[in-house]
Amino acid sequence: MTLAHPPLTVDAGCKDPAMLDEWHVIGLTGDFTSGTLYPLRLLERDLVAWRDTRGVLHVWEDLCVHRGAPLSKGWVRDDHVVCPYHGWRYDGSARCTLMPAAPADRPMKKARTFPHPVEERYGLVWTTLGTPTAPVPAFAEWSDPSYHTVVCGPWEFRANGFRSLENFLDATHFPFVHNGTNGNADAPDVIPPYEVEVSEEGLVSSEIAVRQPEGDARGVPVISNYTYSVHRPLVGHLRKRMVDADADWNPVPGTEHFYTNLMTIQPVSEKECVLRVVAAFTMRPGPSDDEVRARLHVVFTEDQEIVERQRPERIPADLRFELHHRTDLMGQRYRQYLRSKKISYGII
Ligand code: FES
Ligand SMILES: [Fe+2]
Repeated sequence: MTLAHPPLTVDAGCKDPAMLDEWHVIGLTGDFTSGTLYPLRLLERDLVAWRDTRGVLHVWEDLCVHRGAPLSKGWVRDDHVVCPYHGWRYDGSARCTLMPAAPADRPMKKARTFPHPVEERYGLVWTTLGTPTAPVPAFAEWSDPSYHTVVCGPWEFRANGFRSLENFLDATHFPFVHNGTNGNADAPDVIPPYEVEVSEEGLVSSEIAVRQPEGDARGVPVISNYTYSVHRPLVGHLRKRMVDADADWNPVPGTEHFYTNLMTIQPVSEKECVLRVVAAFTMRPGPSDDEVRARLHVVFTEDQEIVERQRPERIPADLRFELHHRTDLMGQRYRQYLRSKKISYGII
């Protein structure tokens, strides 16, 4: 890992190269409009984002090189960020173009902000504090015309990001945490043995079948076959192959459809994170975008109640610290994957 520039603040946050070198989602494309400065936190670093009038999004350290004032407290003028302390102006290439106390002087070469790479993909904004070793993860449904996509979030959890992603990969909590929608507490699904394939690219499970009284935002009973995958430490994917069910849980022929989620988690600190999801589905007619978001809000609010209270807060990657059953295979493999990436931040 090479840092684009050394951390300049005393409390520079995460120093784990494995996490600094990841692409992290910090917002939805639509969250950032030109003319406004957006402060945000990633891995305990303060950043500022702003979009110029050409539509280009910039993500910088929230720090003026002159005397360390927070740029996010300044303002945007003529596609320049104006520092709130002495008014130095920075253009979209991160260069200082004006020092108001000496307007005739050409600003020093070193008078620059500290920018980070930005990519906008799938309606999400991705950035990195280091040098990524892999591209932004693929999400094939985004450009597949058989899928309708809905960009959703944010949901802020006072919880560890890995705990939160593991929750997304866990099919055995549905009847208890999501009773009445994703499962039934009075008739919990029995989870037959399933496989998790481990490769260089990450993890992929075989299908896990469950009965869901209201398996998606349409509110109808479905038999759902989940396939989970993980391709980056804080990015997960689930695919539900769903068949509508009748009152006796028999599949209704000709009703197969797919519902998928790309789950992204922004690690704000070791104990705080932000969830954002791109949902994609083939149901026609399907639920409205607002119905999809409202349904996810219900589900994640239920998850939040539990995940924020898990202890220890940082996920134990060492299997000896918790108890594991074969029905938790995905969670076990996820811990193994985190260990293989040599991640230390957010993990014990
Ligand atoms: S600290 Fe930014 S202009 Fe002085
Ligand atoms: Fe859940």
